[in-house]
Amino acid sequence: MTSHGVADSIREKLDIVDVVQDYIPSLRRTGRNYKAVCPFHNEKTPSFTVSQDKQMFYCFGCNEGGDMFTFVMKIEGLTFVETLKKLSHKAGIPWAETEYHQLSAKEKERLDLKKVLTAAAEFYKKLLFSSNGEKVRLYLGGRKINKATVEHFGLGFAPGEPSLTAELERQKFSKELIVTAGLAGVRDNGSVTDYFRNRVMFPIRNSTGDVIAFGGRALDDGQQPKYLNSPETPLFSKRRTLYGIHEALPQIRKEGRILILEGYMDVIAAHQHGVTFAVAPLGTALSAEHAAFIKRYSKDTILMFDADEAGINASVRASDIFMEAGMYVKVADLGESLDPDEYLNEYGREAFDSKLAQAADPLEFRISALLRDRPDAMASQDKAKLIETLLDTVVKQSDEILKSEWVKTLATRFDVTQESVLRQLKKKSVYAPAPRRDAPGHGAGAPALPEVPAIELGFIHLLVKDPGLIACVKDLTEADFQNPVSKRIFSAVKDLAGEDPAKTIPRLVELLPEYAGIIMKLSVEEMGPDMNTTQNAAKAAETLRKLSLERKRKELKSRMGSLTQAEMAEYIALMGLKKGLKVKTDTE
Ligand code: GTP
Ligand code: MN
Repeated sequence: MTSHGVADSIREKLDIVDVVQDYIPSLRRTGRNYKAVCPFHNEKTPSFTVSQDKQMFYCFGCNEGGDMFTFVMKIEGLTFVETLKKLSHKAGIPWAETEYHQLSAKEKERLDLKKVLTAAAEFYKKLLFSSNGEKVRLYLGGRKINKATVEHFGLGFAPGEPSLTAELERQKFSKELIVTAGLAGVRDNGSVTDYFRNRVMFPIRNSTGDVIAFGGRALDDGQQPKYLNSPETPLFSKRRTLYGIHEALPQIRKEGRILILEGYMDVIAAHQHGVTFAVAPLGTALSAEHAAFIKRYSKDTILMFDADEAGINASVRASDIFMEAGMYVKVADLGESLDPDEYLNEYGREAFDSKLAQAADPLEFRISALLRDRPDAMASQDKAKLIETLLDTVVKQSDEILKSEWVKTLATRFDVTQESVLRQLKKKSVYAPAPRRDAPGHGAGAPALPEVPAIELGFIHLLVKDPGLIACVKDLTEADFQNPVSKRIFSAVKDLAGEDPAKTIPRLVELLPEYAGIIMKLSVEEMGPDMNTTQNAAKAAETLRKLSLERKRKELKSRMGSLTQAEMAEYIALMGLKKGLKVKTDTE
């Protein structure tokens, strides 16, 4: 079976509404279509639309659109073939890796990388349970990690000797691949050596569960760095990855919220204690990419960082980013100089849960942090400066209701008038930089609908809604359209006339990828209930034809002195026609 064959069988078995609902449970039917808040850009009111008839999606806000495959590719960041594999699984269609030879070079590389990383994870795991691994098992035991957790997270041991590289080469993986996967480095003298040595290994998985990288923790005191991550590879970008996402996803989906901790060990301890919606960034600050990624799964986030100054600053920065992404954030504070891992092992799940329940919104959190070592009575200027700082948080809140609540909070808390807080906030908002159009998750670069004359647009709209209508407009030709977009779409629909109308839209998009956005927009956009009828299409076609003939006549008239005989004859014929024309034309 070719990949197109697979795609067709998947299309027969799956409904785009079910596929999208796996990612956006809030997708709801409204009229003929389904709607939800768009996962690809920031918005409050739903403009993301799924058409069950057309098996297409389109967002009127950011112009992202496509079929079920495009949707999964975009939302999961997968290649086409990875998407086929995923959806064929959902559709219950056996997936034969024999299609390997048909993959693009890039897809082959990603597949090879996943294979070598999986083999590495197996090797590390085997070594953890070998006699060599005893000191590591003792170490993990000392950190209260039980065997079930070790297995759940696939932990392992990288000894350095025996060498992973040697083992992988024995399994016929090439040196180049091992290096590209970030499992080995090339020394100055050209020799290739293991990247991770003498470390506890944490496989880093993507949301689907594929191993895409590793983190390794030092085993000996003084061994630097304490944590080492795989370098960036074609599979792995730190800024987009969260440790534990695969393990946490089921619970994140169930609870509709996500807990973000600081480190590997915190995530592992949390899961072991039953707090299974916890993830952590990989030693980097939380980024807008993280926010866009998380937002697909849940809009409610709880941050729990260390209570030290660095932790507080990180919480403030991360909540800004999350609020700007249109998410709801709370900040939990363990209140002691313990990280979640230590806290859970010391006080247990119940105490931890009550800390989670006390999580404050970012404004409250920042107020407490700033007031921590301030005198009770404050000079007016200090008060003004403090409010000014806190307004930096308020201005980031994209929920207007919360924002106005926060203005009230500030006024009450500092005993000033709401109006003055509001005026100060307005000053800030005016000067706040507008959100970047190219910011991640914004559905960047989608072209706006080009200027198409209304009558042409209306006609194309009819055709795209019901490609079968092409049958009743036989004498209309491409030349009767003025706008290049409508010309192209019209002639493509005409070329596809004999095909299954249900497949026309996907085929159109394939034929005219540059107009995919417009095609999708029109195909899901509602028309009046009795708009797309044969009669309307025939009328519109007739008007288009008349307008086109009239343009031709004017054009000939403008060259009257230099017309050929044939052109003259055409002009006369058109003049004759004009008498019967009811279409109003401009005065000449
Ligand atoms: P344990 O000491 O094993 O409990 O780790 P921890 O998770 O408590 O570590 P810490 O609070 O020191 O760091 C939090 C996270 O920052 C870690 O999980 C790593 O992701 C990252 N990190 C810590 N140290 C380093 C380092 O030396 N290099 C890098 N790249 N990341 C680090
Ligand atoms: Mn720790």
